[in-house]
Amino acid sequence: MTKICLIGYGKMGRMIHQLAESKACEVVSIIDPLTGFDASRVDPNSKAIIPKYASEITKESLNDADVAIDFSHPTAAIQNLERLIELGQNTVVGTTGWHEQLSEITAKAETAQIGFLYGANFSIGMNLFSRLVVSAVAVFDSFEDYDLYALEKHHAQKQDSPSGTAIELAKLILSASSRKDKVVWDKLDRRPQPDEFHFASIRGGSVPGTHSLFFDSPADTIELSHTVRSRATFAHGALMAARWIADKKGVYSFSEMIQEILC
Ligand SMILES: NC(=O)c1ccc[n+]([C@@H]2O[C@H](COP(=O)([O-])OP(=O)(O)OC[C@H]3O[C@@H](n4cnc5c(N)ncnc54)[C@H](OP(=O)(O)O)[C@@H]3O)[C@@H](O)[C@H]2O)c1
Repeated sequence: MTKICLIGYGKMGRMIHQLAESKACEVVSIIDPLTGFDASRVDPNSKAIIPKYASEITKESLNDADVAIDFSHPTAAIQNLERLIELGQNTVVGTTGWHEQLSEITAKAETAQIGFLYGANFSIGMNLFSRLVVSAVAVFDSFEDYDLYALEKHHAQKQDSPSGTAIELAKLILSASSRKDKVVWDKLDRRPQPDEFHFASIRGGSVPGTHSLFFDSPADTIELSHTVRSRATFAHGALMAARWIADKKGVYSFSEMIQEILC
């Protein structure tokens, strides 16, 4: 059994807790500084054992976990990660909205010689979808009639926009297209320039996550979409990542892990 400490006990933390045992992981600690842990938030149908609870990340509160999994808040992630690195704790981080400081944090993780795995989307399907997106952009690239634009939809509780996945997809699209040099995230009060593509975000309801890419010509539209049905897919990916990184040193993205597993 891989021993896990959950940092953040919201939608994702709870889902990982419920599924941990089925993926040969044991949750030995929960750390959630803002809300305080409430046993009633554990799904009563879950067989999960209520582990040690703490409000701060310390050597003691980590409770000898092999891996910490952070699904907390965009504004909390950096502080949490710095603390985990300082404590030499192998870590998986799924929290989004902090990746502008990715190189700074991963440099610290390298120096501390811990195992550190990050990703904006822990769904295997999204990982494979990303490869389709790159191929599709390359296919349409030489057909000037086809413009491209993209859309992402998430539930009303999501704290950041655009999604971390949208940012990653936009980078892939720009690298695969010879016609597009810029992504525009904001509301447009003008026509998009030919070298720009618009990636819009919608927030509302309970949508776990949908990312769509459209190739649009005067004659037709081709749409590529990835739609998450349940957060369980992210939780499975995070638990897979935790087991994989438990006895490793070094920094990996989720897609690098998938690549290594496939090879
Ligand atoms: N990589 C992926 O595949 C993936 C998939 C889904 C979600 N995400 C990302 O993961 C993050 C969490 O998503 P979620 O849906 O679980 O959100 P959520 O339901 O809002 O849960 C976040 C939890 O973390 C707590 N928290 C806030 N500050 C914290 C801190 N300093 N340390 C520890 N916990 C803290 C929150 O407490 P309060 O309620 O008091 O704020 C809440 O309990 C978001 O950034 C989301 O975009 C990533």
